[in-house]
Amino acid sequence: MTDAIALASDHGAIDLRAQLREHVTARGLEAVDLGTHGPDSVDYPDFAAALAKSIQEGRAARGILLCGTGIGASIAINRYPFIRAALVHDVTGARLCREHNDANVLVLGGRTTGPEVARQCVDAFLDVGFEGGRHVRRVEKLGAMPAV
Ligand code: RB5
Repeated sequence: MTDAIALASDHGAIDLRAQLREHVTARGLEAVDLGTHGPDSVDYPDFAAALAKSIQEGRAARGILLCGTGIGASIAINRYPFIRAALVHDVTGARLCREHNDANVLVLGGRTTGPEVARQCVDAFLDVGFEGGRHVRRVEKLGAMPAV
């Protein structure tokens, strides 16, 4: 099983994605970069879909997804039932999304989060484990949400 990390963003976070790709690689992990690869305006749901697919197909274990704010990207990717994506703005959120929610995708905003905080968030996301215990039942419910 791969430990590669997929990265994807729209045009709103190209620079931050490149910085985080370097950071992931510097940590000795394979980075699977799914674009966007140019400055043109693109649609964040397309990149959320590409990142979800890379996880579903086993090409990446986890993902880092970005758009300008992270909001659209997080809405889009959480529509896939096997995804638990967390939009975070600080290292506490990045730690807790692993400990409590077993998040498999970290979402950041290229226009809202600076590179140093973003790198700290990635480190927490990659280093911190799921706490289990009372959180197992809750995370299992996320995978089988009842119809309303
Ligand atoms: C693109 O301009 C912008 O809307 C997008 O990056 C993101 O912030 C949406 O939530």
